[in-house]
Amino acid sequence: MTLINENYLNLQGSYLFAEVARRTAAYKAAHAGQEVISLGIGDVSRPLVPAVVNAMKRACDEMGQAATFRGYGPYEGYDFLRRTIAAHDYVDRGVAIQEDEIFISDGAKSDVANFQELFSSHARVALQDPVYPVYLDTNVMAGRSGAWKGGEFEHIIYLPCTAENHFSPRPPQQHADLVYLCSPNNPTGTALTKAQLQKWVDWANEHRAVILYDSAYEAFIRDKDLPHSIFEIPGAQTCAVEFRSFSKTAGFTGTRCAYCVVPKALKIEDEAGNEYALNELWLRRQSTKFNGVSYIVQRGAEAVFTPQGLEQTRQIIDGYLDNARVILEALHKAGFAAYGGKNAPYVWLKTPQGINSWEFFDLMLEKLQIVGTPGSGFGRAGEGYFRLTAFNTPQLTQQAAQRIAAFTF
Ligand code: MLT
Repeated sequence: MTLINENYLNLQGSYLFAEVARRTAAYKAAHAGQEVISLGIGDVSRPLVPAVVNAMKRACDEMGQAATFRGYGPYEGYDFLRRTIAAHDYVDRGVAIQEDEIFISDGAKSDVANFQELFSSHARVALQDPVYPVYLDTNVMAGRSGAWKGGEFEHIIYLPCTAENHFSPRPPQQHADLVYLCSPNNPTGTALTKAQLQKWVDWANEHRAVILYDSAYEAFIRDKDLPHSIFEIPGAQTCAVEFRSFSKTAGFTGTRCAYCVVPKALKIEDEAGNEYALNELWLRRQSTKFNGVSYIVQRGAEAVFTPQGLEQTRQIIDGYLDNARVILEALHKAGFAAYGGKNAPYVWLKTPQGINSWEFFDLMLEKLQIVGTPGSGFGRAGEGYFRLTAFNTPQLTQQAAQRIAAFTF
């Protein structure tokens, strides 16, 4: 008999967005002819920009010629892309990150899910609550969660983020080895300030903890004082790894390209106190389990940083932020307490009259034919909240906003 990895039996329910898709499909099947608008999963609606498409076409032509054809690429990504990212996203902004600290991948989801493999199975994990479910689920799969008791996992340190603490948690009193921070945050749409992040960096250096910093939505930051990278914070290079993505920045959700930054100064230890550089361990992991992102896609990602690429993608992000503004205004008009949406593509609202998140999901679908994501799916502190995304088209977002503004409860 082949035995199962019993950690999988600890997972609670199905993956959040799969469950939302299942319920939406069931509703649509039962109500043919109704126009259901999705403000649910954060998937982009605008196509790849011309600068990216043209670069990918050129790369395709190169792949069709014997003289310029390429087989396997480097595990850590092509130098041209790593160099461009280091210069544009870091060095030009005064942050000393080098190209050999950057690893190209097929997505921030895979990176953030895989990175925990480098740590002991006994590592104590702290998470913002609510937060992107992948952080928790992958640690459950790896056996770090302990048992599910009274609505939470016994070994996970939950850091509640609610309207009361302005969605910004304080470092925990007890020791944690790994802390996941997401800013701008999915799902609350709020972003950590430099001062808040400095507290986390100081705490992590003091506790010799590692911060896994997901900044997949940094391109949506418009407030000039907010940090785009954790490496803008002094001390971060000895305690943090950063995850970034082209998915929401440049419409790559289906194209797949992302990167993570692992500073060479970041070390962890074995039980005997010997030190190991996470940068080398990650390369070892990637070269064993991953064969890199296609040349064509990496040329497309590189084009995001050309003057045309930057301008074209900025216009698209501005459009999504405009959608977020439209959604926020409609929610406020209908009397909801709503947050986020200014430096992020997510709007986070408090459900009315104590309705729970899944009941509100059903209500929105049945009364307004709008799909959103129940806050409780992101963690217990998300109960009584609901997430709407700004990624639909302006037309459908306007239509959804009209339905929301007329909502009575
Ligand atoms: C979301 O809706 O939270 C995102 O689309 C999920 C993801 O990026 O994997």
